[in-house]
Amino acid sequence: MHVVAFVTQKGGTGKSSLALSLAVAAVQSGLRVAVLDTDPQDTAGEWYKRRAAEQPEVHSLPWTYLSSRIYTLDRQGYDLAIVDTPGADSHAAQGCMREAHFCLLPVRPSVADIEASKATVRYLHERAKPFAFVLNQCPTGGRTSRTSNARMALQLLGSLCDATLALRSDHMDALASGLGVTEFAPSGKAADEVRAVLDWLRTKLRRLDGAEADKEVWEADDQSASRAS
Ligand SMILES: Nc1ncnc2c1ncn2[C@@H]1O[C@H](COP(=O)(O)OP(=O)(O)OP(=O)(O)O)[C@@H](O)[C@H]1O
Ligand SMILES: [Mg+2]
Repeated sequence: MHVVAFVTQKGGTGKSSLALSLAVAAVQSGLRVAVLDTDPQDTAGEWYKRRAAEQPEVHSLPWTYLSSRIYTLDRQGYDLAIVDTPGADSHAAQGCMREAHFCLLPVRPSVADIEASKATVRYLHERAKPFAFVLNQCPTGGRTSRTSNARMALQLLGSLCDATLALRSDHMDALASGLGVTEFAPSGKAADEVRAVLDWLRTKLRRLDGAEADKEVWEADDQSASRAS
């Protein structure tokens, strides 16, 4: 099972909305998915109360219970756990980053968001935790220079998701209806963008699995070489 956490200290960047829409899109693609909401605001937990469908399951829990819940979900055969975190540089957010295999950092194309992400990036770099930014709430229409400037700034700080999400009302309406955007307006642009983020994420996770398998082979080779000498 892969564990993906949405983290940023800045509030309102889209952690909860993207976590939920991505989880729904992942269920629609055939994965068994759970959302773990560690934020006391309980945005995901409240969304689940408005939701008619059972999947993806949402579990609201303190971050200190995350490790044991992840262990249980893994044993139950889940493919993906998506962790929603509080928007602050807190013990909770740090605990979630440590538990995750991969972190996604939603950032709006604003200097304030980019600057606020630096502490999170430092924490992730220090722990060699794989992560990527995802640009969210980008202006639509011809006003793209802010987005391309943000794209360049983020590429200097770390990896950036190829797919970009625009500011679209489907996100707010889906959240209010207990739906993901791919359910709320399946042929809408917001849905296309969320599916593109999911495709990018699945490729990224497959590559990380490959890198991890290579590392294990190297370590096993090292161990047998040192036993032989
Ligand atoms: N791409 C988008 N287009 C339009 N609205 C969006 C988009 N992404 C998020 N929103 C809306 O912005 C608001 C804040 O998003 P959300 O609650 O997901 O942010 P958050 O990072 O989880 O905030 P917090 O740090 O407070 O938990 C919500 O109303 C959400 O629906
Ligand atoms: Mg939130």
